[in-house]
Amino acid sequence: MSDEPASLPTPDQISSAATGAAAAPAVIEARDLCSHYGSRQVLFDVNLTVQPGEIMVIMGHSGCGKTTLFRHLLGLKRQSGGSVRVLGEDLAQLARPDLYRLRKRLGVAFQNGALFSSLSVRENVELPLHEHTKLDLNTIRIMSRMKLNFMRLAEHEDLMPAQLSGGMLKRAGLARAVVMDPQLLFFDEPSAGLDPVSAAELDRLILDLRSAMRMSIVIITHELQSVFNIADRIMVMHGGRNLLTGTPDEIRASTDRRIVQMLNRSPHQEELDADSYLRTLTGEAE
Ligand SMILES: Nc1ncnc2c1ncn2[C@@H]1O[C@H](COP(=O)(O)OP(=O)(O)O)[C@@H](O)[C@H]1O
Ligand SMILES: [Mg+2]
Repeated sequence: MSDEPASLPTPDQISSAATGAAAAPAVIEARDLCSHYGSRQVLFDVNLTVQPGEIMVIMGHSGCGKTTLFRHLLGLKRQSGGSVRVLGEDLAQLARPDLYRLRKRLGVAFQNGALFSSLSVRENVELPLHEHTKLDLNTIRIMSRMKLNFMRLAEHEDLMPAQLSGGMLKRAGLARAVVMDPQLLFFDEPSAGLDPVSAAELDRLILDLRSAMRMSIVIITHELQSVFNIADRIMVMHGGRNLLTGTPDEIRASTDRRIVQMLNRSPHQEELDADSYLRTLTGEAE
């Protein structure tokens, strides 16, 4: 096929990129990023580079600053030090309208799908196209249908969110996040609260998304199985700092006590609070 891109990096290129040998411009470049809530510092000199086509997984204990890092990468929070470049733009230099334009090239999927409960699955997926484009209804329908097919939700498009299983909710959230064909997708805790089969299915979809749509993906997850299924590289955070960034093999080979502990804990051990535990039992979404 003529449009078979030469631009999608091979795993080799990605790992050479990880060692600094690649030429392609990074899609994310955070340098010495510092962040505060009020007077309390929560990120300390965080460095993160994500290459085009790369799946980067961010791991770390609850409260270590993963979601805050996401907020910076999305331009939702101003850093107190360092710099953040996303898709080549220095976020601190962008005027509001430019930031808004940049955000349209980013997809964000939230933990529980964050769908509007009064809209059907299809209406939820079409919403960004109605809000951010002037496309006609037919085109919007075609674009949402493609993504719903991709996420294996085509037969369920008329259901309301309350009628969906946990796995379907996440797939619907993901369909909505990618309906505008973002270059960069952010996903906070995709498999939290899913049974192993649905979690594995979601992992497969994330890998398919990268190869079909050639997007770079940054994922926060605690599910170790999932981490090693999908990551090209992993960034381990601890107490607002990045402890280590490397390939899954490099992370597995780490002798850092904190990383060894993280890799040896039983699944779910530290993230399940009483609420999410109950939701797991009842199969209820948030
Ligand atoms: N809106 C906020 N206001 C004040 N402190 C916050 C806010 N959001 C997060 N924090 C604090 O910042 C730290 C990092 O939080 P967060 O980025 O949510 O961690 P993670 O996503 O890794 O669990 C935590 O100590 C948390 O309590
Ligand atoms: Mg978080």
